[in-house]
Amino acid sequence: RYSGESLEWLRASLNEPPPQHPAGDCPQPPRFVFAEPLTPPEPSYAVGATQRYKCRPGYTRARGKTPVVTCLENSTWSENPDFCIGKSCGPPDIPNGRFDYTTDLLFGATVTFTCNVGYRLVGQESAQCVLRGNEVFWNAHPYCEKIPCLAPPVIENGQLTDGNRDFVFGMAVTYSCNKGFSLIGDSTIHCTAGDNLNGMWSGPAPECKVVRCENPEVKNGKKSSGFGTAYTYKDTVTFECDPGHLLNGSYVVTCEADNSWKPPPPMCDPILCGPAPRFPFAELTGAVGDSSLAGTELSYRCKPGYAAASGRSSVVTCLNNKTWSADPDFCIRQRCSPPTIENGDVIADNFLFGTVVTFTCHPGFELKGSSSAKCVASGNGVNWDTASPYCERQLPDVLCEEPPTIDNGMHNGTKGGAFVHGSVVVYKCKDGFALAGAASVRCTVDHQDRGVWSKPTPECKRASLHVLYLSLMLALGAGHPAMYVQELAHPLLM
Ligand SMILES: *[C@@H]1O[C@H](CO)[C@@H](O)[C@H](O)[C@H]1NC(C)=O
Ligand SMILES: *[C@@H]1O[C@H](CO)[C@@H](O)[C@H](O)[C@H]1NC(C)=O
Ligand SMILES: *[C@@H]1O[C@H](CO)[C@@H](O)[C@H](O)[C@H]1NC(C)=O
Ligand SMILES: *[C@@H]1O[C@H](CO)[C@@H](O)[C@H](O)[C@H]1NC(C)=O
Repeated sequence: RYSGESLEWLRASLNEPPPQHPAGDCPQPPRFVFAEPLTPPEPSYAVGATQRYKCRPGYTRARGKTPVVTCLENSTWSENPDFCIGKSCGPPDIPNGRFDYTTDLLFGATVTFTCNVGYRLVGQESAQCVLRGNEVFWNAHPYCEKIPCLAPPVIENGQLTDGNRDFVFGMAVTYSCNKGFSLIGDSTIHCTAGDNLNGMWSGPAPECKVVRCENPEVKNGKKSSGFGTAYTYKDTVTFECDPGHLLNGSYVVTCEADNSWKPPPPMCDPILCGPAPRFPFAELTGAVGDSSLAGTELSYRCKPGYAAASGRSSVVTCLNNKTWSADPDFCIRQRCSPPTIENGDVIADNFLFGTVVTFTCHPGFELKGSSSAKCVASGNGVNWDTASPYCERQLPDVLCEEPPTIDNGMHNGTKGGAFVHGSVVVYKCKDGFALAGAASVRCTVDHQDRGVWSKPTPECKRASLHVLYLSLMLALGAGHPAMYVQELAHPLLM
């Protein structure tokens, strides 16, 4: 038997150059680890002499090589090495494992064994191809066996679903819980390779517990699945919020081993819009608070002077992003009918509600009525706040001549003065005369635009007795009128 190390040493020492000999003579023939001289070597050999060998035990003749060396002329032996090679042990048998070698599987070689995953090696880790008798053999025969696990743990309130067995790598065991208990954890565990020597269970055995979660409540929301009142391990409930509310948190919750919902049930927060929007052209039809829930619809009506725009909605809605939505300009300003004025002009940019228009007359005409008008709300619509004015033809200056003089009377018109259209003069009579008819005349315009005094012209007539008498009484200013009637009557009646 040779160990690998001693074999190396032997090979090295044999390769040392042989000692010098006289030319034509060969020293002792070379020694080989794999062969020995067939005949005992001689002290020296002549050139051309040969030496035969036979393979040592554990070696066999290499095919096509002659086990002979010849003494050469330069006193060395011919080299025809390796005419014997080691016998092969053949590949070692190792089910569920493999072997590795560095050189070959021949006599003297070493192989190392490893097992497949889940198996462990029983026996020596390596083997050498050794000689026994005249044959070579592997000196060790380890094998691979499945890695075993300890018996799986026993649990309270539950058991393994399959009974007593050997527990080895790759095997799974399943637990179940007694009625009324929830299985917490993995129901199945399996035997793993562990440290490749002793197996380990893939995880801890599950627990069997009583799990109860309370009925979850969400304000402003409701369950959308998982209805019921009694909940146990791994039950799930989903929620949805009432309209106008935003879900904050997880919409799905699960009853966990600690008797609580994970994550905690969500909250439904109201989505609120701020105060109702204000428009210059519309007003709310009803009272509205400072904040409104999403989905709230507010109705507006057009302010006086405005009318609903066709195809636009006057409803404003609180959106989910907390803003109010409104159609733009859902009320439009109404328009007054354009005013007209004969012999004049209307000055205005437009005739919309709120606009003021002004009127002017063409030269020679005078504006009668209001010089401006405003388009204001009126009933269901709009109208001008005043009636349209008109333009009146302007008359040239009209003058009357001296007022007519009358007998026994006079007027207050100053002589030489101008009597413009509309002037009035008043007449009065001399003593003893009385006015008949109206006392005044007025300067008017005839159909030819000339100034004429109005008719009739007053007249002064001799006063009647009775009137005279009364006048006299007033002139005397004393006594009872009856005393003088007789006395005075005659001369005055002439
Ligand atoms: C001796 O001769 C042989 C063949 O001629 C040659 O191969 C070998 O190298 C020689 N050896 C020495 C030491 O010169
Ligand atoms: C959700 O609720 C939490 C706790 O009340 C709060 O801090 C958070 O701001 C809320 N998130 C939203 C988006 O409202
Ligand atoms: C709110 O939502 C509406 C409609 O989805 C969108 O037009 C508007 O721009 C949003 N407003 C804000 C402030 O995000
Ligand atoms: C004459 O008297 C009347 C009444 O007092 C007055 O209205 C009128 O203007 C007077 N006329 C003139 C020309 O003074």
